[in-house]
Amino acid sequence: MAKSAFLKSSIAKKYWMALTGLFLCLFLVGHLLGNLQLLAGRSTEAALQFNKYALFMTSNPAVKVLSYLTYISILFHAIDGIALAIQNKKARPVNYAYKNDSVSSSFSSRNMAVLGTLVLVFIATHMVNFWAKMHFDKNMPLQTIAAENMGQKVEFFVSTNNGLAGNDAFLGKFIPTNAVDGKYYFVEGNSIYLNREFKDIHDGNKLKKEKIKIAEGYKDLHKITIEFFKSKGKLFGAIPNEGLLFTIFYVFSMAVLGFHLWHGFQSAFQSLGVNNKFTPAIQFFGKVFSVIVPLLFAIIPLYIHFILK
Ligand code: HEM
Repeated sequence: MAKSAFLKSSIAKKYWMALTGLFLCLFLVGHLLGNLQLLAGRSTEAALQFNKYALFMTSNPAVKVLSYLTYISILFHAIDGIALAIQNKKARPVNYAYKNDSVSSSFSSRNMAVLGTLVLVFIATHMVNFWAKMHFDKNMPLQTIAAENMGQKVEFFVSTNNGLAGNDAFLGKFIPTNAVDGKYYFVEGNSIYLNREFKDIHDGNKLKKEKIKIAEGYKDLHKITIEFFKSKGKLFGAIPNEGLLFTIFYVFSMAVLGFHLWHGFQSAFQSLGVNNKFTPAIQFFGKVFSVIVPLLFAIIPLYIHFILK
């Protein structure tokens, strides 16, 4: 490749890596804020709040668009990164006779490709364990909701099959019976209503009828997450205490992510050509970001495994 074409393609790759990388930093902040709810413990209310949040994140159309952008960004960032690493290696096939790396560059900047690959491995396993379960697992547990029914507490297990109404939505095991005390129920979205029973709502002079809602049901992502880090099972059926191993893997991966961001954050602004009086502030912010965000992520599995009762 002619030298100028080589430079051009390399600059374009760096540009796209910077844009996708910064978008992924925004994703990290959003994802962190959502996951910090897990520090609220395992009460019914805490679980319900997290499960409602998870449902919103997987069903809201605007969030869905952001999710697809996230998946595309991860793929693009990874493929571009690998291509750039290969290109750089080819351009400089002979190692310098003498090089003292630590003088001219940081550990992070010298190992971006390795760090990025480890983050990618983390994301792949992480998505298999959580995202795939939330989206595709037919046996995903559902949060049990206790509701009052004629002075009696009734436990509901409700499917989140949006759009289904009537008995179809109960899918057999999700609701103990479809008639308790002679009352029938139906499901719309995630809500359970008393069938054909309405309450009166006064709207100014008008009297309106509204369906009586008795409970809501959600996929229990809260339970899945807590059981994951607390698991006493054997990894690959052989290594005991997989919950501890998962916790160690997550904490290690967050350290790797921190090192990747340490160089990546400020390098993105450099690739975008930002070089002005704000550059020192950007560099400082990037370093704070790369420590605080992975640290807060790491606290979640540590809290669940070691502290949560
Ligand atoms: C240790 C803390 C973390 C916990 C407890 C956690 C938990 C979860 C859970 C429960 C989901 C499924 C929810 C859903 O599908 O919307 C999820 C999805 C995901 N997580 Fe994490 N996560 C953590 C850290 C991370 C980190 C550090 C990254 C990236 C480096 C990451 C990347 C993702 C991605 C890309 C998805 C799919 C998101 C989507 O569908 O929009 N997670 N995570």
